[in-house]
Amino acid sequence: MKAKGPFKAGTREAALWAQIDPAHLPRHIAIIMDGNGRWARRRHQPRLAGHRAGVRATREVVETCARIGVPVLTLYAFSLDNWKRPPEEVGFLMRLLRQYVRRDLDYMKRNNVRLRAIGRWEELPEGVRQDVAHALEDTAANTGLQLVVALNYSARAELVDAVRRLVDEARTNGLPTVDEATVAARLYTSDLPDPDLLIRTSGEMRLSNFLLWQLAYTEIYVTETFWPDFDSACLLDAILDFQSRERRYGGLSAEDTRAAVEKPRPARRVPNLRDPRLLTRS
Ligand code: FPP
Repeated sequence: MKAKGPFKAGTREAALWAQIDPAHLPRHIAIIMDGNGRWARRRHQPRLAGHRAGVRATREVVETCARIGVPVLTLYAFSLDNWKRPPEEVGFLMRLLRQYVRRDLDYMKRNNVRLRAIGRWEELPEGVRQDVAHALEDTAANTGLQLVVALNYSARAELVDAVRRLVDEARTNGLPTVDEATVAARLYTSDLPDPDLLIRTSGEMRLSNFLLWQLAYTEIYVTETFWPDFDSACLLDAILDFQSRERRYGGLSAEDTRAAVEKPRPARRVPNLRDPRLLTRS
């Protein structure tokens, strides 16, 4: 008997899942969730309604990643630059975040999801910090999906923090050899694989100060869909697209590698038509 898949038979999700190779899922998907405001404007609703709808999309994507077995999902939830938004919007985003970690904690515990946070999240307002810290603690032993929320995050600040750590350590222990591993080990993501797939919604072609180090070889997928409309089928579309890519990490494709090692055939001699010896003798 065929094993039951993670999606209801006959749905678009089931059809997409049938085309996906479950043995080659991205080990880490990172998402820049964008377009909440535009989604709301299209519906003549306030921006905050867009953020509320964005939480619904977040929930669906988290649940789908957990169900299909993606090991790590990182979501860009609040950047250091987001403090430039009006205080009402920032306050609302903080309330949404608190609600999310409180309401979904039970789901995370039942589904073996481990919540993690990256960024200067400990500098967030005290109530938010406490709720996040509590959810981190309560799910720390879970071994399923690692749900990494980037909070009060910017990639440049992450690099600055890594350099500061290195300098502090050097004061006590002397400077270690500095190579890529030395830097990577001091990033917030030191124990996570780099993202295989970056998804950005709402069509913008920017990295917006997100995981600049970690995205060095990541496949980028940009969709016009606004975040609140991004559902399980959209996620599966992105994974399917990822599986069609050939990742070369600066090397050659398999075909070009074969061609490069094959013995070159001797070039056919092209006759020099100006050679007087070739001039027709009559
Ligand atoms: C971008 O939309 C989205 C954000 C600023 C992040 C907020 C994300 C959520 C509310 C999703 C919930 C996440 C968690 C973890 C609870 P935008 O306002 O920049 O959209 P716009 O570019 O159309 O104005």
